[in-house]
Amino acid sequence: MKTYFVRTFGCQMNKHDSERIAGMLETELGLHEAETPEVADVVVFNTCAVREGAEERLRGHVSSLKAAKTGDNPDVIIAVGGCIGQRDGETLLSYLPHVDIVFGTHNVGSLPSLIASASESRSATVEVLSEGTEFASDLPSVREHPWHAWLPITVGCDNFCTYCIVPYVRGRERSRPIEEIVAEAEKLVADGVVEITLLGQNVNSYGRDLYGEPRFPEALRRVAATGVRRLRFVTSHPKDLSDETIAVMASVPEVCRYLHLPVQSGSNRILKAMNRKYTRESYLALVDRLYTEIPDLAVSTDVIVGFPGETDEDFEQTLDLIRRTGVDQAFTFLYSPRAGTPAAELENTVPREVMQERFDRLVTVVQSSAFAKNQRFIGTTQEVLVEGTSRRDDTVITGRTESNKVVHAPLPEGASAASLGGTFVRITIDEAQTWFLSGHFKG
Ligand code: SAH
Ligand code: SF4
Ligand code: F3S
Repeated sequence: MKTYFVRTFGCQMNKHDSERIAGMLETELGLHEAETPEVADVVVFNTCAVREGAEERLRGHVSSLKAAKTGDNPDVIIAVGGCIGQRDGETLLSYLPHVDIVFGTHNVGSLPSLIASASESRSATVEVLSEGTEFASDLPSVREHPWHAWLPITVGCDNFCTYCIVPYVRGRERSRPIEEIVAEAEKLVADGVVEITLLGQNVNSYGRDLYGEPRFPEALRRVAATGVRRLRFVTSHPKDLSDETIAVMASVPEVCRYLHLPVQSGSNRILKAMNRKYTRESYLALVDRLYTEIPDLAVSTDVIVGFPGETDEDFEQTLDLIRRTGVDQAFTFLYSPRAGTPAAELENTVPREVMQERFDRLVTVVQSSAFAKNQRFIGTTQEVLVEGTSRRDDTVITGRTESNKVVHAPLPEGASAASLGGTFVRITIDEAQTWFLSGHFKG
């Protein structure tokens, strides 16, 4: 029996593409998932180019397969796709010579035929297109969780933040017709999906390129009406989040009261240099409006530390903004120069030690904000979508609230964790830590 292994780096869009890749390998090529990459017949790396770290990890993983390929698994086919594949094309083979297939972000659907030709010819096959079939709705899918699905509504990005590689590797922003989105959501619901996450680099600009199409708030309403229990979406660019979207979040029960709103920096000077097109004042005003309309909203954000020219003063402004926003979570990144982006040309780079020291201070502020915000849940009863059991203890279930908080609770006597996976249970919260809540099943 032939087997495959898919390793995914990067964002939710890549996770979604990997579920399609697994679906095609199973349905079109009849492969089964292998336990580890070392024993698989086909190994696919779905890559990310957003920061240097993800690239280093790819090199490490491909090099470790070299041993298998030159040893007991000589026929293994190694395919590299995603954003590094798209960016580097054939040059990828110069630094990773053991790779058999390079494909890009626009031709995920051709992977089965590329595998077939690579295994026949035994020579490297490269296919990277500058555009292609963007919305792979007709491709099969093997979802990580049967009850959750990613649903892309836009691909690409037109924002060109000066530090970011995404517009170069994912192309211009294109929206998917609303009928297609709704039809896919209906199919997913019929297939047992209870939670859908709408995907786009900037979901708020959905429909801008489709004359006469409904815009994002309407798309939210239409998908919410398909019978799905929970509807999430990422990512929202602060410059484009409309009052109508806030109103839909406040009034449509299926739309989760959780918002990922990347700020990147709290300094107007840096925001301008990043080409973010909003100010700290307009971001804070937006957050105020959100909490007024949706008092129990959970907010997460992204922050880049050490953008070229960032001074202590700029960084203090970021810390201050994070404190004022009262974030539930923040994904914090050290600035990583990306060749080909305007920021990579900037001088005045921040020394590594300074960056690291700022990063550590930011993490402490984020942790205390998250801890403080979690206290509001103590004593409340939350609806929790069960994901499985705790890694440390299989008598404890783990799941998530609407606000995306991880919740742990001991299994009630006689209940089986397997049968609870993908179902909603009611948990009364007894304790709140920084990154999770603990509680007990409500009788
Ligand atoms: N479209 C989304 C996500 C883009 S990538 C958005 O606009 O928010 C996810 C995050 O990676 C970004 O929000 C940013 O914080 C971070 N990021 C992107 N490029 C980076 C770089 N060159 N160095 C460090 N972090 C980066
Ligand atoms: Fe990158 Fe900015 Fe587009 Fe997000 S909005 S993908 S950070 S260019
Ligand atoms: Fe990375 Fe590509 Fe996503 S660069 S963040 S995988 S769009």
